Amino acid sequence: VRVVLYTGKGGVGKTTTAAATAVCAARRGLHTLVASADAAHSLGDVLEQPLGPEPQLVTPGPSLRASRTGAWPQRGRLEAIEVDARVETERHWGAIHEYLFRIFRYQGIEDVVADELALLPGAEELTTLLAVEAWAQAGEYDLVVVDCAPTGSALRLLTLPEVARGTLRFLLRVQRALSAVVTPLARNLVPLPLPDTRVFRDAEDFVYQKLRTLRQRVSDPRTTTRLVVTPERMVIDEALRAHTDLALFELPCDAVVMNRMLPEAAAGEAFFEDWGRLQEERRREVEQLFEPLPVLQAPLQDDEVTGLERLAAHGEALFAERAPQDVLCSAPHVRFEMRESGVRAYLPMPHARADALEVVRVDDALVITHASRRRSLALPHPLRHFDLAAVRLEAGMLEVDFVREEAGS
Ligand SMILES: Nc1ncnc2c1ncn2[C@@H]1O[C@H](COP(=O)(O)OP(=O)(O)OP(=O)(O)O)[C@@H](O)[C@H]1O
Ligand SMILES: [Mg+2]
Repeated sequence: VRVVLYTGKGGVGKTTTAAATAVCAARRGLHTLVASADAAHSLGDVLEQPLGPEPQLVTPGPSLRASRTGAWPQRGRLEAIEVDARVETERHWGAIHEYLFRIFRYQGIEDVVADELALLPGAEELTTLLAVEAWAQAGEYDLVVVDCAPTGSALRLLTLPEVARGTLRFLLRVQRALSAVVTPLARNLVPLPLPDTRVFRDAEDFVYQKLRTLRQRVSDPRTTTRLVVTPERMVIDEALRAHTDLALFELPCDAVVMNRMLPEAAAGEAFFEDWGRLQEERRREVEQLFEPLPVLQAPLQDDEVTGLERLAAHGEALFAERAPQDVLCSAPHVRFEMRESGVRAYLPMPHARADALEVVRVDDALVITHASRRRSLALPHPLRHFDLAAVRLEAGMLEVDFVREEAGS
């Protein structure tokens, strides 16, 4: 199934764009699910229909069904869902959460705070993704559109399957080793709650099964992120950073959506002239900066974009000749090249800054840190006998040279 995620700075139009994409796809005949993964749900407001934690059929009113432009084909179906992160977290982390809660309580922490702490950072994002994944697998959808939370949280959602797996596996190993030694005796001596086997079973299931599935899903070439921006400096800067972070984790990004563009007719008016010019500059700038990603434009509408009819029009303006479900740009991946002197790795890192970059070799992994994000990239087996020789950042591409280990070193 094709999955499209929308993210961007707060308030730029993510929910609107996600809903418009889904309506456009359904009208063009696809069985589509649009899911809100933002804890502050507004998808229901945009679709003008109350939504819940299970997919609900969204049906067009008589006017849309009848109107020529708004034809809703037989086959196309739109369903919508607002994931309840709390409930999902409870379900997937149930035993682990309960155990952590008992530990925090034991340490004298207030119930409410202990409950918060026990949720672990990122647990909500992870379980939200799990819920979306479950529905994506269960329903026979052609397309799943995800309305994500603003950038920071959305990136956590996408990178956690990889990051959490490493960390949790390590914790599990330590805990299992510890409890094997401590449990039988200590049970009667210390009042500190010790994890029972159920906690381990849950944690293991989570780490080995679910995280693997999620990792496969987010790195599948049919899963792509689209960055929503408006013609404003700060918004564009945040999207650039997101683009770098996504690339670091090899999460494909296939388009930029430029929302709230002044319609041409208005840009010609004397009053809007300067605004129109500035916006045109920004548009060209965005096209250059994000190249080769296509930049889809959506006009500033005269009123809020809610209800199927307006969403349908908005979706048509956005995609026009393009198909909303297409992968609009295929992302480059990490690749290795054999050279006379050794091996060179190419890692795409658009807009990365050399002064914010650090690359080190730790055992069999290459640990790449850019700004506040870090990825540990497992090296292919043959490279394990190579040393890190040089690192270069060239036009958005990180080049890492490896040379064969000196004999005896
Ligand atoms: N192209 C547009 N023309 C006019 N109004 C728009 C347009 N795009 C979005 N809006 C309006 O702007 C407001 C914010 O849009 P939306 O909720 O889609 O943003 P968001 O990025 O999802 O926000 P949040 O970060 O809060 O989730 C809404 O009232 C929406 O109707
Ligand atoms: Mg939103």
